[in-house]
Amino acid sequence: MRSGGEYCVFLFLLQSVLSDPGATNQVVLLDTTTVLGELDWRTYPVNGWDAITEMDEQNRPIHTFQVCHVMEPNQNNWLRSGWIQRQAAQRVYVELRFTLRDCNSIPWVSGTCKETFNLFYLQTDEPLPAGTRFRPTDYAKVDTIAADESFTQTDLGDRVLRLNTEIREVGPVTQKGFYLAFQDVGACIALVSVKVFYKRCPSTFRNLAAFPDTVPHTDSSSLVEVRGACVENAEERDTPKLYCGADGDWLVPLGRCVCSIGHEEMDGYCRACKPGFFKAFAGNTKCSKCPPHSSSHDQAATICHCDKGFYRAIADPSTMACTRPPSAPRNLVSLINDTALFLQWMPPSDTGGRKDITYNILCQRCDDSGGGVVQCEPCEPDLRFIPRPLGLTSTSVAVVDFASRINYTFHVEAVNGVSGLGVAARSLANVTINTHQAGPSLVAVVRKNWASLNSIALSWAEVENAPSEIVDYEVKYYEKEQEQLSYSSTRTRTRSVLVTGLRPSTVYVFHVRARTTAGYTAYSPNFEFATGAEDPDLADQGQVLVVVTASVGGFSLLVILTLFLLITGRCQGYIKARMKSEEKRRTRFHSGHVPFSGIKTYVDPDTYEDPTQAVQEFTKEIDPSYIRIERVIGAGEFGEVCSGRLRLPGRSDIAVAIKTLKGGYMEQQRREFLREASIMGQFNNPNIIRLEGVVTKSRPVMIVVEYMENGALDSFLRTRDGQFTVIQLVGMLRGIAAGVTYLSDMGYIHRDLAARNILVDENLMCKVSDFGMSRVLEDDTEAAYTTTVLFGQGGKIPIRWTAPEAIAYGKFSSASDAWSYGIVMWEVMSYGERPYWEMSNQDVILSIEEGYRLPAPMGCPVALHQLMLHCWQKQAGQRPHFSDILSFMDKLMLNPSSLLTLVNDVQSFPDSPEDMPDYPLFISIGDWLDSIKMSQYKNNFLAAGYTTLDSISTMSTDDIRRTGVCLIGHQRRIISSIQSLRLQLHHIQQSGFQV
Ligand code: ADE
Repeated sequence: MRSGGEYCVFLFLLQSVLSDPGATNQVVLLDTTTVLGELDWRTYPVNGWDAITEMDEQNRPIHTFQVCHVMEPNQNNWLRSGWIQRQAAQRVYVELRFTLRDCNSIPWVSGTCKETFNLFYLQTDEPLPAGTRFRPTDYAKVDTIAADESFTQTDLGDRVLRLNTEIREVGPVTQKGFYLAFQDVGACIALVSVKVFYKRCPSTFRNLAAFPDTVPHTDSSSLVEVRGACVENAEERDTPKLYCGADGDWLVPLGRCVCSIGHEEMDGYCRACKPGFFKAFAGNTKCSKCPPHSSSHDQAATICHCDKGFYRAIADPSTMACTRPPSAPRNLVSLINDTALFLQWMPPSDTGGRKDITYNILCQRCDDSGGGVVQCEPCEPDLRFIPRPLGLTSTSVAVVDFASRINYTFHVEAVNGVSGLGVAARSLANVTINTHQAGPSLVAVVRKNWASLNSIALSWAEVENAPSEIVDYEVKYYEKEQEQLSYSSTRTRTRSVLVTGLRPSTVYVFHVRARTTAGYTAYSPNFEFATGAEDPDLADQGQVLVVVTASVGGFSLLVILTLFLLITGRCQGYIKARMKSEEKRRTRFHSGHVPFSGIKTYVDPDTYEDPTQAVQEFTKEIDPSYIRIERVIGAGEFGEVCSGRLRLPGRSDIAVAIKTLKGGYMEQQRREFLREASIMGQFNNPNIIRLEGVVTKSRPVMIVVEYMENGALDSFLRTRDGQFTVIQLVGMLRGIAAGVTYLSDMGYIHRDLAARNILVDENLMCKVSDFGMSRVLEDDTEAAYTTTVLFGQGGKIPIRWTAPEAIAYGKFSSASDAWSYGIVMWEVMSYGERPYWEMSNQDVILSIEEGYRLPAPMGCPVALHQLMLHCWQKQAGQRPHFSDILSFMDKLMLNPSSLLTLVNDVQSFPDSPEDMPDYPLFISIGDWLDSIKMSQYKNNFLAAGYTTLDSISTMSTDDIRRTGVCLIGHQRRIISSIQSLRLQLHHIQQSGFQV
């Protein structure tokens, strides 16, 4: 029987369904909807499949293959595609669109009609020669294809077309090409289109680097690392990399390129700076406008050149305006007294645009050498300038040691960082001073007569012919090393003096001048003499005693002074400054817990003004070159989570998990991301996930932690349902309790204890992770217990895991962590069941408030359920401490017989109905099953004769299985609910109600 007639598809309906723009990460190897000519596919036997080619309204062919030998037994009809070149593909996807007729809708075909067909493939390096015999055994089976929807002919005028789309993965393909083959075994099929494609990560630009088209690995879980090439005019910072994932998506961008000098980033490329702009450094900054008094005339300028008359000093940054030398100092005045001459001036009116002005003093001494000829010579060597003659930053100078009756001309020069770079004249202000001293020096030579440790005796001879009567002599002296910033003087009427109070082994400079009745004469030249040296052997007791007394006295004085200052409060600023950081640290420990002595206390990173400081203090920076990312294992709140290896210098490499912060983050997100690391970095316990370090100095920002082979506890248990002994489960709970005991001893409140936040290693060791939620409560109850604190920080509360007082008033504590721990116990003992199943959060809150508690999971030891109930005490103070939980777990493990009594075996009920929790009252079996989201079994229960709540209350797991509930999770949910129902019924019966 031919198939083309009444069972065929309606081609006119297909056009709209077939148009698919095609995703960019797919490379299409074949698409029958776009082949314009013949397809040239083969059928075996020739009258099995039927090729139909229709034309659409644009006169393009629509190729369809049909087969419908549903009345005849033993069908084996093959349709083989043409040879499809593999190109770069390693894994190929075949997308089939087809309709499949529902056998029920065809009369008289039972037994022969099928509703599936099979997909096969054959790899070859060449197309098979024409005429090669078709051998089905050469083909490898890919899959049996069934329809999601079959189509039913309702009547001849109203046929419903249901198009199925199925995609199958073929491969790995290694030869140059392949054939696809479709085997029909007696179904009614119309194969409307076949698309063959492979996935690739399309070439892209990221972070100024180009990445080529890349074909993913055949192993769908590993990533292909691809190095990017910097775009033109860009250079590498950290090697740019992307990872190509199995679905043709680019993941985990690492490293980057930056635009070179003279170029800036625009639309993903590096464009040359426009004239008038420049960029002196490679980096992701923009070109800058030329600073004042400079310009650039060409594109891609790396610097702007200074306008005429303006300069740039060597140390000036290229972003600084060009500047020029200053104008001359203003208003230079002089002042003279007996011993010194003072020059003072005002800064120049034009500083040249700079702040680094200094002044130099130049001096000339001009004598009238007779005949009106004035001769000038430099006088700086004879004079002394205080503080110095050159490089003055203030606008005055003192000059000493000048001779009398001399014309000194002083030039004050203003200079700045660009003076001398051009040809500009020097910026000078001048003043000439005549020194009216009482004649030249009368003392030519000063002699040292003797010296002791602390004194020197001097004498001098007078030159003859003193012009006027000498009144006395002034001896001026200073320590040579001190360069005359302070000097001493003494007077004497004789021509000798004993200068006392000097320091031992010290060179002093002396000069002497006479005071005559006409005034001071000039000073004698300088004479240098040293005091005597201390002889260590002769260091006399007295002196030592003086030193000791002085230092002891000094110390006591210091103590007394400090005490005094403390008492008077004058030292408070200092003490405060010293104590500030320590105090800060101490005030961070205000979690409300008194930590056990000897255990380090947790420091909340939020108490740092600058959170980066907390990161620096508690984490280790890792050079990203030590990290090798291998695959993406999940998606975190801030970016991908990958697994990989970490090889620190001098250490063997270890498996790590790497949390990345995806690009384009805000500063706040970066802080929040790293906050977890600065918390984790403070912990050191085998049951707390270990932080290896962080990468913050390059992109992407990463947190590197130890790798836990079995991932999150909840999903791990779900995939291993029923596979562990009770002791193994208790071992896991013990590990979690040990981790949380450590946290609570440190004063840390986790706030998000849940099986999903526990990681499991290859040895089933459980470690607490996910420290994002924690906030240490302030001591100030007013501040801590408001709803603003609770919800204002953007944290959502995991209702099912959270203690009622924490939900209601944000009162988080180790006791609220104990409640969550009880829920984790329940999750573990029920192999990852969802606490309170599908109940809404609102219902969970209400039923907890009414006293409802989770029943024991199937097979749960009584001791464990009792501990859970203990953790779920309404009064936080009545819940167990973690140290008690830990020792309870230890006792259970040491005494496994305590685990033998299971809750399912306990049939006794509480004595008084008042002791009973108020469980919800269900009216019918249907309502009850609805309430636990098991409505699909209503008919099973009714068919098995369970019509009243009473009748189900005695059901065992076997009874449930017999009603047709096959899934273990469903059996478990139903039995748990029956247990609580039993209690409820008992309660109701005791109260005299009829169910
Ligand atoms: N997922 C998140 N963190 C992990 C870790 N440390 N090990 C394994 N899987 C993880």
